[in-house]
Amino acid sequence: MHLISSPMESSAGSALVRIRDLVYRVAGIFQPDNRLNFLQERCSRRMKAVGVPSLRGYLERLTAHPDRELELRQLLNEITVGETCFFRNQPQIEAVRRVVLPCLLEAKKILPFRNLRIWSAGCSTGEEPYTLAILLLEESLGMLKNCKTEVIATDLNDRSLARAQAGVYGQYALRNVSPAILQKYFTPLGDQFQLCDEVKAKVTFRQLNLLDDSKMVFMKAIDVIFCCNVLIYFDGASKRRVIQHFLNNVNPGGYFFLGYSESLFGVNDDFRLVHFPGSTGYHKPTRNGLVK
Ligand SMILES: C[S@@+](CC[C@H](N)C(=O)[O-])C[C@H]1O[C@@H](n2cnc3c(N)ncnc32)[C@H](O)[C@@H]1O
Repeated sequence: MHLISSPMESSAGSALVRIRDLVYRVAGIFQPDNRLNFLQERCSRRMKAVGVPSLRGYLERLTAHPDRELELRQLLNEITVGETCFFRNQPQIEAVRRVVLPCLLEAKKILPFRNLRIWSAGCSTGEEPYTLAILLLEESLGMLKNCKTEVIATDLNDRSLARAQAGVYGQYALRNVSPAILQKYFTPLGDQFQLCDEVKAKVTFRQLNLLDDSKMVFMKAIDVIFCCNVLIYFDGASKRRVIQHFLNNVNPGGYFFLGYSESLFGVNDDFRLVHFPGSTGYHKPTRNGLVK
C-alpha cells in the first residue's frame, strides 16, 4: 500500500487504519485493504470541509474534539453506499404479496385487532420502504382490509433519511415503476416526481445504527424485516450480531429478507430458508416449531 511507504506517509497510513477501525467498531462497516483508497478519499472530503490538513489531525477530530460525534456521523454519511431504486427486487415483492402477507394474515385471523409491521432496515433514500408502502396500499381494499399496516424505515445516514422524507425522485430511481403506479402515486415536479402523501404517511423514518445494541432491542414485534444490500460491507462478527437482533425483533412466524446476492449461510441457523418463485427469504419458526 502506497500509504505506508515513507515515514511521513506511514503516520498517515496508521491514522487511516485507526479511522478504519473506528468506523468498523461504530458501524460494523469493514473497509478491507483494497478499499483504503476509497476511505482516504472520503476522509479527504471531510478534511476539506472542516479545514483539517492531515489524516492524523482528522483522526484527532474524530476521537478527541468536542464535535467528534457529529464529525463521525458526517464521515459515515460519506462512506455509506446508498444505491437503491423502487421495486428493486420484484420477485421478492411478489413473494410478499402472494405468500408472506396471506400467511401472516392467516396466523392473525383469530386476533380481534390485526396489525402488520414491516421494517426496512438500511432504507437509504426511501425507495424500498415506499415500495412496500405502495404494496400495502394496493392491497388495502383486498386482503389487508381491516388490518392496520405500517412501515418503519431506518438508516444510519441522516442525509439519506432527509431525502427519503422529502419523497422526490428522478427517472433513475423510478425505472422499475409501472406507468399505472407512477400515475397513481406520483405527481410530476419539474423533471422529477413527488410521491403522494398517502404513501408517505405509511412510512415512519428513524435514524438507527444497526450496531447500536441499546436501540436495536427496542425494535420489537415486527412481522417482516427487509435488510437488503446493507450487510455486504459487514464482516462475519458484526453480521452475526445484527442478525441475532433481527431474530429477536421479528415475531414468531415472521419473515426476513436479504438482497439478491446475500445469504445467512454460516451466519445464522435459527432462521429457516424459504424458496419463493425467483427469490428466497427466511422465516422465524413459530413457538411450536412450525414453519408456515
Ligand atoms: C445499498 S443501500 C440499501 C438500500 C435498500 N435496502 C436496497 O436494497 O435498495 C445500503 C444502506 O445501508 C445503510 N447502512 C450501512 N451501514 C449501516 C448501519 N450500521 N446501520 C444502519 N444502516 C446502515 C447505508 O447508509 C445505506 O443507506
